[in-house]
Amino acid sequence: MNLKKNLCMTLLLALTATTATAQVYLDPQAPIEERIKDAISRMTTHEKIQLLHAQSKFTSAGVPRLGIRQLNMDDGPHGVREELEWNTWSPARWTNDYIVAFPSLTCLASTWNRTLSTAYGDAVSEEFAFRGKDIMLGPGVNIQRTPLNGRAFEYMGEDPFLAGEMVVPYIKAAQANGVACCLKHFVLNDQETDRFAVNVNVSERAMHEIYLAPFKKAVEQAHVYTIMGSYNMWKGVHCCHNDELLNGILKRGWKWDGALISDWGGTTNTMEAANGGLDIEMGTYTDGKLKESEFGYDDYYLAKPFEKLIEEGVIPMSVLDEKASRVLRVIFRTAMNPNKVIGSQCSEAHYDVCRQIGEEGIVLLKNEKNILPLDANKYGRILVVGENATRSLTKGGGSSELKALRDTSPLEALQAAYGDKIVYAQGYYSGRAIYDQVDTIDPAKQASLKAEALEKAKTADLIIFVGGLNKNRRQDCENGDRESYDLSFGQNELIAELTKVQKNTIVVMFGGNPYSMPWLSQVQALAHCWYLGSEAGTALVNVLSGKVNPSGKLPVTFAAKYEDYPYVKFGAEAYPGVNKQVYYKEDIFVGYRHFSTNHVKPLFPFGFGLSYTTFAYGKPSISSNGKEVMINLSVTNTGKVAGKEVVQIYSTAPQSHLPRPDKELKGFAKTRLLQPGESETLNIVIPRDELKYYNESTHTWQLATGAYTFHVGANVNDIRGKANLTIEN
Ligand code: GLC
Repeated sequence: MNLKKNLCMTLLLALTATTATAQVYLDPQAPIEERIKDAISRMTTHEKIQLLHAQSKFTSAGVPRLGIRQLNMDDGPHGVREELEWNTWSPARWTNDYIVAFPSLTCLASTWNRTLSTAYGDAVSEEFAFRGKDIMLGPGVNIQRTPLNGRAFEYMGEDPFLAGEMVVPYIKAAQANGVACCLKHFVLNDQETDRFAVNVNVSERAMHEIYLAPFKKAVEQAHVYTIMGSYNMWKGVHCCHNDELLNGILKRGWKWDGALISDWGGTTNTMEAANGGLDIEMGTYTDGKLKESEFGYDDYYLAKPFEKLIEEGVIPMSVLDEKASRVLRVIFRTAMNPNKVIGSQCSEAHYDVCRQIGEEGIVLLKNEKNILPLDANKYGRILVVGENATRSLTKGGGSSELKALRDTSPLEALQAAYGDKIVYAQGYYSGRAIYDQVDTIDPAKQASLKAEALEKAKTADLIIFVGGLNKNRRQDCENGDRESYDLSFGQNELIAELTKVQKNTIVVMFGGNPYSMPWLSQVQALAHCWYLGSEAGTALVNVLSGKVNPSGKLPVTFAAKYEDYPYVKFGAEAYPGVNKQVYYKEDIFVGYRHFSTNHVKPLFPFGFGLSYTTFAYGKPSISSNGKEVMINLSVTNTGKVAGKEVVQIYSTAPQSHLPRPDKELKGFAKTRLLQPGESETLNIVIPRDELKYYNESTHTWQLATGAYTFHVGANVNDIRGKANLTIEN
């Protein structure tokens, strides 16, 4: 009898074990936390360690023995980077990795259109999914405190509220497709000069109110799955393994359950990596773009050295399990997520999204005598001048560079639209698009290009100058900031001389940053285009021609001169730093918070953008339900063509001893396309938490009681109405 009983028990145990083995961590219907627990219980120490570091340039290992998938990552925020070789920075030369190049994120921010941000995240993540990627290394929400930042084009402007509001829909849409976003660069990576070593000194209040704020919103509202630590240091510790930042603020403070991925080469030692909140170590011993390494992946700080500390009991297994669990959570949310989409690549639907974002991101800054929209019948010959009329701007910029299948240039689109009216002169040249070198410019060649343009201008009835920055080194590119607020390659002089030959001059600029405009009074129109991606030419011509009415508004302040930026008066310590120490001495007064509060007149203020029509704002009404402030107003198209308007709400807090900006963006809404005479009523809801300030003595967010003013504006300096509200407690 016993034998029979034992046999049954053994069979039952074996069956249970088999069932248990097969059941939970591989069961796509099981709760992820159960899958994680089950997987951890089956993994060896070495298998857990393998999850924590690269096994190639852009993948981290899974657990082959258990059938747990590896994580495939790739750049960047604007589209899927071309496939690189497994273990080098060299292109793999695949022929199926051409993709859609979407507009830069600063362009997306300029649309002020949350719906387009959703469309962006949905479309770009479909391309990542189709290319077999689980993590897209973007978006970025570092704050544009200096117009020289080489990577500003990858970010969403100077204001933390706008950046947060515009990044949340993008992340939600991407992750709904089963592709993880990797929000970067956490945190204070606001310059490229000395990016690997600079230590940022910033007040706790500015840290929370300005630099952490968009990341916090993405964690709390979009539940971003991964975050990339930044190369720089904060409080003398690298942000890729900074205990106070990653364990203190991000994981415990914000209750974030994702995986912290280092920037490529951002990990510098094992103990900090083990105890400082790093979960996946990537690109160690490299510089994120060029430098290779003779070290193998097992030499990574979180590889053999860390495994040794675990085996010796120097670091408890719980630390390893916590990291491995976070990585498994990403795997089960993406690579092993039964709902992850197949995706698609280079579909017309994606090109439509790309073009719409470009069209709505272009900011019309000047339009004298309504020279725009362009009535080509008025002009016999239209001269297009400038290298950016033909240059591919989807390449360059560093890790966010793209291998676009379609790359429509402004000149191609202008020629398609206006036929042989269009004549072209390059006007200037900038050299090759290279990452770590700047080509020596030949003055003779530059002079002859200029002379040719000026000669052709003599017989032109209209000039369209297409220039700006171009994602070459120090021209909006990773790993090096701009060296001047002025445009390069003699563009300013060329524009000025062209206008002397033909006063009908329209300027179209590309770039992720503001710049000086000594020629502004001499030109009749100016459109700033950021970087528009695959549909650049089409989007631009649709706006210039009036097929689309421009509705973009600046996410950054364009100062009249470089010295007007708030940090400049503090000298090199405030930027780019001295002895690898940079001090954010302007504190919370970044961008318009400085210009508006201190009455410094900018060339073009934050939130500024012209339209081909005009809008009237109704008187705003305000109410509050204790948790939210509601502002309600109607907007009417009072012009002759259909258009969209972005209404912005800025708050002024009650007077107190605490210095506060005179205006802070706390709400915005974009109308639908309003026909002439049509109105739309906007209800803009401001959670009261958005009105809080960060109290450094209590290290908490606090709501000041008293009288608030809410300014309803077309931009930070163009206030169309006000509403007051007293907040008691
Ligand atoms: C780069 C960049 C980062 C990029 C990574 C991988 O150095 O800083 O944004 O995602 O390395 O290319």
